[in-house]
Amino acid sequence: NPVLPPDLSTCHKPTGLPTGVDTKCCPPYSGTIIDYVPPRVPTLRVRPAAHSLSKKNIEKYNKAVQLMRELPSDDPRSFTQQANVHCAYCNGAYDQVGFDPKVILQVHNSWLFFPFHRWYLYFYERILGKLIGDPTFALPFWNWDHPDGMRMPNYFTDKSSALYDEKRSNAHQPPAVVDLNFPQDKVTPPDEQQVQENLSVMYNSMVSGAKIPLLFFGSEYRAGTSSGTSAGSVERVPHTAIHVWSGSEKDREPNGEDLGNFYSAGRDPLFYSHHSNVDRMWNLWKAIEGGKRKDISDPDFLNAAFLFYDENARLVRVKVGDCLDSKSLGYVYERVDLPWLHNKS
Ligand code: C2O
Repeated sequence: NPVLPPDLSTCHKPTGLPTGVDTKCCPPYSGTIIDYVPPRVPTLRVRPAAHSLSKKNIEKYNKAVQLMRELPSDDPRSFTQQANVHCAYCNGAYDQVGFDPKVILQVHNSWLFFPFHRWYLYFYERILGKLIGDPTFALPFWNWDHPDGMRMPNYFTDKSSALYDEKRSNAHQPPAVVDLNFPQDKVTPPDEQQVQENLSVMYNSMVSGAKIPLLFFGSEYRAGTSSGTSAGSVERVPHTAIHVWSGSEKDREPNGEDLGNFYSAGRDPLFYSHHSNVDRMWNLWKAIEGGKRKDISDPDFLNAAFLFYDENARLVRVKVGDCLDSKSLGYVYERVDLPWLHNKS
């Protein structure tokens, strides 16, 4: 059976927090759940590459996140609550409905990884757009698969910006080149070599190591088990590697906060641009080999569902089967070169 959406009334303190961390992350309660139908949109949102964002659009993005940070923390659209979404779904704040003894819900390490984060970003983006009154606002993607995007985008590290987060790696501030396979290497190679290594990581995760859906999406995950058994190729690397690379060094924050740990990852605005690129990989993967690569068609995948608050603070139920095509959700990605696509080395 498919994994069912959680029951918010039974949300509890997360069971899967790192030792010494004490935090709550349940969303505000609402008794009314609406079955979500993605609205038809007059204009597609085009998610741009973060590193080539115009000054005007950087300001817009910053403004939107600033307004989100200014919402009262019990508003489900506030930055605090948006960050909590990740903790709740990933650190065991929810039990799966209908199981005794209890079975927690964990969306990572399985085929729920891509669809869960897609819906999560979808509402995050719509909330930001609504806050600045721009229905075409599109979440920039951190283009770490392209040499020009293999650094933290500069404006995220501007201390006066709403996009700044203090809990990040000191050593990996720009112009450090991201290591898509972090922390495998003991020594950091020269930049050019790191770029080449990154391109082969991308080739492995997207092309050679992801020829069948389960390798790309991750293992199956059905109701009644506490998590999947293996992460998909992209979830493993570069996705998780970039989380750890971006989060604080452990001598400063013991659990690699913010980006380096599930419970705190959503507290860094960079998370959403990181995941925008992860989400882009889903679209790109399907286009490799002229569209021969297909989404999983197992009904337990398609009928799995989650709950989110939308931009009008309504609690909505969304299905995996409704998010397979980003266009039907009203957005696409700016096209940029894919230098890894034929990079076999
Ligand atoms: Cu929910 Cu990047 O992890």
